[in-house]
Order: sequence, then structure tokens, then C-alpha cells
Amino acid sequence: MIQSLRGMNDILEENYERFDYFISTATRIAKNYGFHYIETPLLEETALFKRSVGESSDIVGKEMYQFTDKGNNDVCLRPEGTAGVVRAFVQNKLDKKGGIHRFYYHGSMFRYERPQKGRLRQFHQFGVESFGVESVHEDASMIMMVADILGALGIGYRLKLNSLGNQNCMPAYREKLIGFIESCGDALCEDCQRRKITNPIRVLDCKNDNCQTLYVNAPKLINHLCDECQNDFESLKSILDTNNIAYEIDTHLVRGLDYYSKTAFEFVSDAIGSQSAIAGGGRYDRLIEFLDGKPTPAVGFALGIERLLELIVMPETVRVGYYFGAMEDESLPLIIQTAQVIRKGNKAVVEYSAKKLQNHLKGADRVNARYCAVIGENERNSNTIWIKDLVLQKESIMALDILLKGE
Ligand code: HAM
Repeated sequence: MIQSLRGMNDILEENYERFDYFISTATRIAKNYGFHYIETPLLEETALFKRSVGESSDIVGKEMYQFTDKGNNDVCLRPEGTAGVVRAFVQNKLDKKGGIHRFYYHGSMFRYERPQKGRLRQFHQFGVESFGVESVHEDASMIMMVADILGALGIGYRLKLNSLGNQNCMPAYREKLIGFIESCGDALCEDCQRRKITNPIRVLDCKNDNCQTLYVNAPKLINHLCDECQNDFESLKSILDTNNIAYEIDTHLVRGLDYYSKTAFEFVSDAIGSQSAIAGGGRYDRLIEFLDGKPTPAVGFALGIERLLELIVMPETVRVGYYFGAMEDESLPLIIQTAQVIRKGNKAVVEYSAKKLQNHLKGADRVNARYCAVIGENERNSNTIWIKDLVLQKESIMALDILLKGE
């Protein structure tokens, strides 16, 4: 039997209901914040991710689904959504147009990681990207939107916050950090020795316990911020305080993608095991110019949908629409005709096999219908239909044309 590829799952039945509920809740909230849907391709030029996510990141260095297509183009399945949205923003000249542009999206992302619980090779994100707002209020808004989405779904979280500085303060800090890394010598793991050259700040979120013990004494970027970054960070904390959003400062939160500056944040859950990050984001003011656009401030986030599914507190299911059944084969055409009319305005599920009433009632339960509507010989002869309201537990016989007019 052919199986799905490792780390690539089907989403069906109960999980699909959760998935669907997540998308509709997050979409409603993103729209409430003034965001519009954007769809970008799953496949992009590899260069897009090299220039944005960064060649030194694990995502680009180790995890890309990269191949040469039949036209000899170097292409790659998107490992994340931000790069494609920025490309679309620049390609459609919205950077030149100016003003504020706010987008949300959801869809599959692909990373060739070692699969485990909560870590897939094809997974789904719900993300938003905001272009044209320099104010740190927009950063706070992003965080509040994630908090609203998680709150609406009944999901508890911890919020980790850091500032990654900007081009004024980051270079001097990087030099300080490199000095510190060098002072640790061979005590650091091989990955950190390599990162010292490729992307020093990534050493700070090394998973090796020994390295982490040493980094307790590493210089902290939030102690080396320039005035602008410091002021923004203070304002961000104060907006979150005013709006009762609790956070922890995590000076080792550097994120796995290279495009961030200033605000970086991650939402984690303590209820889902080691892959605990449920959302991540931050500001990326330089990325638009790195991708040949006009410099434009930008900030965004993405939630990992699979990691959230089991945490979602689903609303009580309500019975909706109709279940239609025939008592004998001769009544089936009339049942199908009736259901076709009802479907113009309501849910109507049809059972094609003729059955006894008791079995139709069980069928209506299975599809969670409010009404069980059945036609037998008597009803067919008198142009009526037997209906049971399964919420009010009331039965009636109704003229068919009254039912059809009512819809
Ligand atoms: P990210 O932190 O790489 O950020 O991914 C966001 C979320 O996607 C993570 O917090 C996690 O929940 C989920 N995720 C990541 N990898 C996997 C995986 N292998 N399996 C299951 N879930 C996963 C970004 O992708 C940025 N583009 C976010 C962003 C938007 N920043 C600014 N705008």
C-alpha cells in the first residue's frame, strides 16, 4: 500500500473540523484588525529564500525542498510565508505606491526536518504581514492579535519577547558577542563554532546544555540597544502592560530566520511537548529593500496550525440543516428533488438507500442534522413529508410545498 511521505499528514474528520474552526476564527480576527487575504505560490525561486530567510539559517542551509524544474530553474517549496508575501508586495509595486498594506494568509509550508510530534515536513501556518507602519503600536497589535486568536480558541500560552536591535546597534553587539564566543574556545559545540562565523547571534538559542550554561554570561543585546531601539522596546512593553498582555523577556530569543530587527516574539505552550513554539514573529524593516523594493517598515507573525489543533477548545456542536431519507426506493426521486431545493439555503444530507424510520433517525444523528425528514408511501401519495425536529423533539407532517416555500 502506498503511504504518505514521512512528516506529511492527511487532515481529515475530527482534525479537519478543528482545522476549519481554527481558520475561520483566525480569519475573523485578522479581518477585525483590517487585514486582507493574500495568496502566493507554493513554489518560488530558491534565491528568494536565500536572500530573505538567510543562507546561514537551518531552514535554508538544511531544510529546503529544492530542485531544478523542467525549465532548468532552481526552485523550492516555500518553507515559510513571509518571503513570498514580500516578493508579491514588491512585484506588484505596492512599495512604490506607499501607504499601509495588511495581509493575512494560510497554507502549507515545507521544511525537510526530522519528523517528531509537532514537527512535520509539510505543515500549515496562519500568518499576517503588515507593510508601511513604523510605529511600535503595530508590533503590539500583532502580539495582541495572536493573543486574541489563542484566547478565542481557549488556548493558554506564554509570550517571550526580545529586541534584536537594528543596523545601528547590532554590528557593535555582534563584535562583542564574537569576542565572548572566542573566549569560550573549544568548550562550545561544533554548531556554535560554525555559527560564530556564519551568524553569531544564532549561538544564543543553541540546544546544547553545555553551551547554554556558558551563554548565561554572554553579553545581552537588550543591554546594548541604541536609543531608538531602546525607546521602541520600552514603548512596546508599556503598550502590552496597558492591555494586560503578560510577557517574559527572553534575551536568547533570536528566531531561526535572519530577516528580523527590533521586536522578536514567540508564543509557546507548555502542554504540547518539546516542539512548544505555537507562533513566532517580529519586525523586519530591511527585508523589503533586500528583495529590491523601496525601504518599507514591516512586521508580522505566523501560527503553526498543527501544533494548535489538540489545544483548541471546540464549541459545543450545534445541529444544523436536514437529513433526508426514503422509506422505499419509489420515494427516493422525490427526496432528492426536495433536498436540491433545500440546499439553496440550508444543509441537506441525503441517504440514498431506503430504510426504516429508526435507521434514518440514527443517520440524522450521525450527520448532526437538526431535522430528520422522511418520505414513505403515505407521504408520497399525499405530497407531504414527515419531519422530526431533533432539538425540540417534535414530529410533524408537512405539505411538501410549504416546506419548500419556507426555505
Ligand atoms: P517560524 O517561527 O519559523 O516563523 O514559524 C512559525 C510557526 O510555525 C512556529 O511557531 C511553529 O508553530 C510552526 N512551525 C514551524 N516549523 C514547523 C514544523 N516543522 N512543523 C510544524 N509546525 C512548524 C515563520 O515562519 C515566520 N515567517 C513568521 C513571521 C511572519 N515573521 C514575520 N512574519
